[in-house]
Amino acid sequence: MPKSEQMRKLEDFENPRIVPLGGTLFAASFFLMKLLPARFMLERATERGDLKPGATICESSSGTFGLALAMLALQYRHPLVLVSDWALDRHLHRRLIELGAKIAIVEEPAASGGLQRARLQRLAAYLDELPGSYWPCQYDNPDNPLSYGKVAALLIDRVGPVDCLVGPVGSGGSMCGIARTLRSLFPELHTVGVDTPNSVLFGQPSGRINLSGLGGNILPANVDHTQFDEIHWLTPAEAYAATHDLHRTHGLFMGPTSGAAYRVARWWADRNPGKTVITLMPDEGHRYVETVYDPQWLASVPGWPSSVRNAPVTVSTPAGPMPGWSRLEWNRRTLEAVVGPGDASI
Ligand SMILES: Cc1ncc(COP(=O)(O)O)c(C=O)c1O
Repeated sequence: MPKSEQMRKLEDFENPRIVPLGGTLFAASFFLMKLLPARFMLERATERGDLKPGATICESSSGTFGLALAMLALQYRHPLVLVSDWALDRHLHRRLIELGAKIAIVEEPAASGGLQRARLQRLAAYLDELPGSYWPCQYDNPDNPLSYGKVAALLIDRVGPVDCLVGPVGSGGSMCGIARTLRSLFPELHTVGVDTPNSVLFGQPSGRINLSGLGGNILPANVDHTQFDEIHWLTPAEAYAATHDLHRTHGLFMGPTSGAAYRVARWWADRNPGKTVITLMPDEGHRYVETVYDPQWLASVPGWPSSVRNAPVTVSTPAGPMPGWSRLEWNRRTLEAVVGPGDASI
C-alpha cells in the first residue's frame, strides 16, 4: 500500500525517547507504544489481502491498542468497531468517538475467562455480521512481536549492548519481540516481566485484574514464557506509588504500567551495578489524571498507601496469594514447567 503523508506523520510517533534514569538505567518512553504493532499488523494484513480497502476492522480493547487502531483506521480509511468494558475510561472513550470508532460495551463477564472472554464472544458476533471485516488479534498475531525488531535496533543504536530488559506484559508482543531480537545479539540478556495479581499470564489463579494495560485472564499466544528470566507481580497500589515516584523523581509523566516497570527496573539496576538496563514505558499519563494522579480516587484503592512494599518478596510458586510485590525466578522455563501441565491450560 502506498503511504500517504498522514501515515508517515503517525510513524514519527512510534519510536520511544531514550531517557537516562541515573547510572546505567534507561527508559524507553513511548508516546503510545501500540502505534507500532498496530500499523505493522494492518500493513501486513493489507499486503496479504486479509484486510481489503474500506473493510471494517473489529477488535477487543479497553486501552492503548484500541486508541492506536482508531488513529490508524482513520488514516487508512477503515471503519472501526471496538468491543470494550467498564475499564474504558471516559477520556479514552471520548477520544475514540472523536476518531470515529464505534464502541460496544460488554457489561457481563463470561462464566469462564471473565470480561475478556465476554468481549471476544461479542467480537465474534460482529465479525460474523460484517462480511469482509478484519480482526488484528494483538494477543495471537505473530506480527505484533515481529513489529518490535525496529525498537530493539534503536535501543542498541542509542545505548549499545543491553544487559537487562524490563517491561510490563499484556499481549506479550513488546517484551517477547524486543527480547528475541536483542538475544540474537546478546544471548546473556536478562529479561524481567512485570505482571499483577489475578492475571493468568505467569500462573496466578484467574481473578479480577484491577490494573489496566498488563496481565490478563486469557493466555495470549504471544506470551513466550521461555523469554523470561524473572517475573514480578505488583499490586495496583504499588504500581500507582511507583508512577508517582517516576513523575516526581524524573519528570516522566507516564501511565501505571510504566510506573510498575520502573519500580522493578530500579530495584534490579541497584542490585546489578554497571549493567545496562532498559525499561519499557508504554504510554503517557494524561489518561490517568482523574485516577492514578487523583489523591481522592487513590484513597479508594485497596492497600493505598499502607501496604506498598519497597522490595519484592521472592516466592517459589506463582500460584499462591500475592498481597504485595512478589518475585519469581522464572529461568526461561515454559509455563507447564513452572506450574505443571494441569494448570497451564488456562
Ligand atoms: C499501557 C500498556 N502498558 C503495557 C502493555 C503491555 O504491552 P504488550 O501488549 O506488548 O505486552 C499494554 C498493552 O496493551 C498497555 O496498553
